[in-house]
Amino acid sequence: MRVRTYRPLVFLGVALLGLAVLLAAPVQAQEGEGEGDPERGAVIFAENCAVCHGERGEGRIGATLSDIFVTLDADTMLKQVISEGREGTFMPAWSQEYGGPLTEQEINDVIAYIESWGTTYEPPAPAPPRPEVEIPPVPDVEGDPNQGYTIFQQNCAACHGKEGEGRIGATLKTVFAGIEPGAYLIETISHGREGTLMPAWSQEYGGPLTEKEINDVAAYILSIQQPTPPPQGEVVLRGSGWPLLVLLLASVVIIFALGVAVQRGRSAEKSGESEGH
Ligand code: HEC
Ligand code: HEC
Repeated sequence: MRVRTYRPLVFLGVALLGLAVLLAAPVQAQEGEGEGDPERGAVIFAENCAVCHGERGEGRIGATLSDIFVTLDADTMLKQVISEGREGTFMPAWSQEYGGPLTEQEINDVIAYIESWGTTYEPPAPAPPRPEVEIPPVPDVEGDPNQGYTIFQQNCAACHGKEGEGRIGATLKTVFAGIEPGAYLIETISHGREGTLMPAWSQEYGGPLTEKEINDVAAYILSIQQPTPPPQGEVVLRGSGWPLLVLLLASVVIIFALGVAVQRGRSAEKSGESEGH
């Protein structure tokens, strides 16, 4: 008997879970595959690829891309290398399928941009990024955090996220344990970290940045550091995770409330029945 009474609730629960999944799905579905747009691709390239390949693929930390011969095959080759990366090199995997940050559409856009090189069409170059609000000077370091913001967006954001929150590389927002965070930053940025994706940035170590640029970018990182890291064990959900969680919680509450209501209804019915007899 008991099992029977709960069957509708099980159906309802499944239906609500299904609804939750359906409602959360469009977040991903809307980023489906489509024709690449070279103008959008130019922005994505500036933010993610120029750091290693140069502004127009002329080569910097990564390989030169501007001599890629555009054929029908190039399309497939580009898609594969960009999506999956090249193991054992500095070239990361960019598609979400391979754990990267770019959607299928964004990869199509960037390919359209690469393939526009050497044609008569030139997408407008995106303006250098500037901070929305002037960043006040940071104590203990020489660099200018506002200049550093621009250098960071052009060189580090691809791996560390636009606000240093972490992406392919580590988060830079939590305070470094060292006694002299400024010196630690300058040292790490200049030398890089061997055996990881973190390249050496100083010209002394074969990188592209001047000493002044490294000071500036260190100043910017210090300006975004938060004194207290988030408490451990806290559930951190990013982006599209939220609607799903909220819906799941809502379904649990609704199922519970319905269960209570049905129970009450039944006991009321029962007492009504027994009174009647
Ligand atoms: C951290 C540096 C780095 C970043 C960022 C980077 N790449 Fe690369 N990329 C490389 C390196 C290094 C290679 C050469 C790998 C090798 O030796 O085979 C490469 C190779 C490639 C190739 C193959 C070139 C060839 O001739 O075989 C393509 C295409 C490419 N990258 C596209 C991109 C695109 C598009 C982005 C941005 C979404 C990007 N890369 C971001 C470092 C990088
Ligand atoms: C190709 C990806 C990539 C790029 C581009 C990159 N980093 Fe990194 N960075 C990493 C990775 C990965 C680590 C973590 C290395 C490790 O595991 O120790 C790291 C570590 C660091 C650290 C040490 C963090 C810590 O907690 O000790 C600093 C500081 C840093 N990066 C700054 C920068 C700056 C500044 C730039 C731009 C000038 C930059 N990175 C560009 C990938 C990158």
